[in-house]
Parts: sequence; C-alpha cells; structure tokens
Amino acid sequence: MSTQARERPSEAGEDAPQPAADVRLEGVRKSFGDVVAVDGVDLEIDQGEFFSLLGPSGSGKTTLLRIIAGFERPDDGTVWLADVDVTNKAPFDRDVNTVFQDYALFPHMSISENVEYGLKVKGVGKQERRSRAEEALQMVRLPGYGKRKPSQLSGGQRQRVALARAIVNRPRVLLLDEPLGALDLKLREEMQIELKRIQQEVGITFVYVTHDQEEALTMSDRLAVFNNGLIEQIAAPADVYERPATEFVAGFVGVSNVLEREGQRFVVRPEKIRILEQGEEPYAGAHVESGQVRDVVYVGMVTRYIVDLEAGGQLTVVRQNLETSSQDVLEARGAQVRLEWRPEQTYEIGERGQMEEDE
Ligand SMILES: Nc1ncnc2c1ncn2[C@@H]1O[C@H](COP(=O)(O)OP(=O)(O)O)[C@@H](O)[C@H]1O
Ligand SMILES: [Mg+2]
Repeated sequence: MSTQARERPSEAGEDAPQPAADVRLEGVRKSFGDVVAVDGVDLEIDQGEFFSLLGPSGSGKTTLLRIIAGFERPDDGTVWLADVDVTNKAPFDRDVNTVFQDYALFPHMSISENVEYGLKVKGVGKQERRSRAEEALQMVRLPGYGKRKPSQLSGGQRQRVALARAIVNRPRVLLLDEPLGALDLKLREEMQIELKRIQQEVGITFVYVTHDQEEALTMSDRLAVFNNGLIEQIAAPADVYERPATEFVAGFVGVSNVLEREGQRFVVRPEKIRILEQGEEPYAGAHVESGQVRDVVYVGMVTRYIVDLEAGGQLTVVRQNLETSSQDVLEARGAQVRLEWRPEQTYEIGERGQMEEDE
C-alpha cells in the first residue's frame, strides 16, 4: 500500500512569488429554501489556469459559477476577482463573461454581428469591432464565416461562435457551463482539444463546469470535485485519478475499485490489475487475490472483467484486446481467476473530513 499520504500536488515554481489569484472564494454558501446548493466553498484559481468544477448533477456547480458571474448573491462568504471584492457587484461590473450550454445566438443577426454584439453595447467603434470580431473568429477557426446566419452553421460551429462572442470581450475570466453538453461524442472530443488550444492562446482564465470526468481530466490544469455542495478534492487530473482523496472521488473519477483489507481502505485502478494466466507465477512482491469472474463486457479496444474476490469485495479489471477475440472473452464468464497488482499502485483513501487542511 502506498505510504504517501494525501499531499498537495507539488506545483512548479512553488518558491516563486505567486501572482494574485484571478478568482478567490472564501466560505461561499448558498441555499434555495431547504436546499443547500453550495455548502461552504473555499477556492483559489490562478491567472491563466484552466480550472474545472466537476461533479454529478445537482452538486452545486452551476450555482457556484453563477455566484462568480454575479447572477446569484451568496448567503455567506466572499468572492474576489483579481483581489477585488466583487461579492456585491453586479454582473456587468465584473471582468467575466459566461458561455452557457444553450448558447442562443441571435438568429436574425449574421455571425459577425453576433460576435460584435458585446462590443457594440460597450460603445466600441465600428472599425475596431470588425477587426476584433474577425480576430476572434480566426481564433475559433471560423475565419470568413462572418456573413453567414447561425442557421447556416453546424452545432459545433455555433458553439465556436458562442465562444468567439465571449472571448472578443477579452474578459479576465471566462466561465463556461457545460458548453459542449449538446454536442455528440465525437464533436465533443474534438472541441475539448480546441477549447484547450484556444485557452492557451488567449491566456484567459477558464472556469469550466462539467459532469463528465473524462472531459475534466482531458482539459484541466486543476479541477475541483464537487459532491453535495462541497469540494471533496482539488488537484491536477493525474493526482485526482491516482490519489483520490475520498471514496466519492475514487468512484466518480474512474471506476470505484475500493477494497478493504486489514482495516485499510484503498483504491486500485482497473488498468493496474493483471489477470494471471493458468499456472502463471505471480512476480515477486505482487499482491495476489483469487476470485470468480462475475461478468465480462467486451468494449472493442478493451474488455472489462468484473471479479468477485474470495476475500470479499469486487474489482473491475481492464485488459486490452491484443490477441483475444470477443468469443474468447465471453467464455471467461464464471471462470476462477487470480489477480495481481503492485502494492505501490494502490492508494489508501479516507472518508471526507480527512482531507488536508490546505485544500
Ligand atoms: N433557482 C433555484 N431554485 C431552487 N433550487 C435551486 C435553484 N438553482 C439550483 N437549485 C438547486 O440547488 C442544487 C444545486 O444545483 P446546481 O448548482 O444547478 O447543480 P449542478 O450545476 O451541479 O447540476 C440542486 O439541488 C438544485 O435543484
Ligand atoms: Mg449545472
């Protein structure tokens, strides 16, 4: 078992003077009647960071984003943007822009007019509006689309226009609430890469809400995992995956492979477990357990085995389909197997409340 306790991920330049956080939340709370949507959140998001709020539906992500944007007032707590207390400021007095999932473009306006709209409201001159809009469209890889109407674009292209419409204002912080939720999987994956590129190019701080763990892992510099209005962990993607702070995080980000042995609870990720061949010797130092294959799921590139362990508990094991066919794989159902993994690839987890003070 890993002896490493949950420590704060080491970040580059820890000794260097830190620039002011772009977004800082302290003790933020918000209820709607009996429903506690945000239950005391502390958070710091650095300048230029791609930061995700990840959690299941109803965990308070949108409410927190709306509090940062100024569309909701917190019942308690403070919101700072670049060290200015904006808790009681109106949305238009905050240097932020929001991109929603239903990014309703104005249907009667051209793409250029849609993108220029915010600048026009601010009284920016026509010449500058044009050039900034064209620049923003270039940024989202839609140069020359300015004259079209929204109905003449695909869903993915419209989503890019919505993004251009926000970044054209050059806000300090861009808030995005499940902006890719309406797109099909393939397009969503493409847009994830695009969004990340755009964010790096413009250098704007992104606060990105999603319930999709893969999306959060793909794009974020760091992420906060939400559960019931509370943050369970804040860390870089690899740390959240490999060193989940709580059982909830272990199950929400990845497959919940949690076992209890000798009074210790730990997570072991499915890809770290090997199914031993018949008669194969485990390597020295491996942790070995016997069990029975309860279920087999063939998913093309890999197969997932669900194994009931003799010592109690259940594990999911993922194996690449190198030489096995779907037929071989299905025959494994009900088989007795031995599993092995390296003790150092397990990670001990605690209950909530045992997280580090500084997180
Ligand atoms: N305007 C509102 N009125 C009443 N309840 C609300 C309102 N907005 C959100 N909630 C409740 O607050 C909780 C958190 O919601 P939300 O922030 O939208 O979660 P998420 O975005 O993570 O799905 C949910 O239980 C939701 O029903
Ligand atoms: Mg939401």
